[in-house]
Amino acid sequence: MKFNLLILSWFDQNKRDLPWRNTLNPFHIWLSEIILQQTRVDQGMKFYINFITEFSTVHDLANADEQKVLKLWQGLGYYSRARNLHAAAQYISKDLGGVFPNNYKDLLKLKGVGDYTAAAIASIVYHEPVPAVDGNMYRVFSRYYGLENDISLSKTKKVFWDIGLEIIDQKRPGDFNQAVMDLGATICLPKAPKCDSCPLNASCEALRLNKVLEFPVKTKKTKVSNRFLHFFLIEEESQLALTKRSGKDVWQNLYTLPMVETSTDLLDHPEILEKNIHLDLSFISEEKHILSHQHLYIKYYTYKPKASVLEDLKHLVDFEWVNLNSIDEYPLPKPIEKFINYHFFD
Ligand code: ADE
Ligand code: SF4
Repeated sequence: MKFNLLILSWFDQNKRDLPWRNTLNPFHIWLSEIILQQTRVDQGMKFYINFITEFSTVHDLANADEQKVLKLWQGLGYYSRARNLHAAAQYISKDLGGVFPNNYKDLLKLKGVGDYTAAAIASIVYHEPVPAVDGNMYRVFSRYYGLENDISLSKTKKVFWDIGLEIIDQKRPGDFNQAVMDLGATICLPKAPKCDSCPLNASCEALRLNKVLEFPVKTKKTKVSNRFLHFFLIEEESQLALTKRSGKDVWQNLYTLPMVETSTDLLDHPEILEKNIHLDLSFISEEKHILSHQHLYIKYYTYKPKASVLEDLKHLVDFEWVNLNSIDEYPLPKPIEKFINYHFFD
């Protein structure tokens, strides 16, 4: 049997029951696909529900404050997704009069929507036969067809796109793409694929060669950088110093405790850090926070400044006073939220 028949009949029996699969509302499908870009289904589910509950239409999202959107996104990571989502909602609401782009090419014009997401939305909502090429698709296709193309090379994407375009089911393109996603997420797993229960196992090339774990071929590892961040807990009469992150970096437009970054962990000891930044610190705790391309080595300190010194500190890091009662309104990165909760509310 052919790939399509096999995977679609498997999908009909085994598809995951997910909230965005009971709708063809493009606003909802778009939202789900943005959330699922870098987030697993089980984690993304409650964020999806929260968003569609808070914003019934694309206009509601467009008219919301960015801070509110970021707050709802808090914990999901990759916050540029939320900022792009908001900007795209404004574009759809104002420039397109609320009419959603209804094809692959126009969907690509939305901020934050790339090939994969445009193909997912176009195939699911508008039945356009375009393949959604992502990590799942690379894994399933490379194994099934025994494709040895190196997926760390950018030209490989076109190879998989062309194959996908050729074999995608013309009548059920959205189901086809989602079948590949589901097979990749539940059966054709990266490290421990369940070939015994796979609907494709009778004709899978990698399985026939007994080389399943050698696919997909990937030569280059993603580079990880180490960063050393020192956060200062500065508190006065139920007020906490928070600073809004700007610049093109992680956590853009989110709030954190005032911070300095050091280039190495040579400043590992508070006394050395103190000497360098002229503050009296006392170490509280540390943790390692892992992002996709960065390992953050985080340390927390209390800093109890005298009023006269506060102005000096302002030169080092910009901050505003936030009442602890209203901290809920501020979007915080996950480690900072956890630290503040632990410190003040647990
Ligand atoms: N990952 C990305 N899009 C998805 C979808 N529509 N269903 C399940 N997993 C997904
Ligand atoms: Fe993946 Fe194994 Fe199925 Fe081949 S048989 S597609 S390797 S799960």
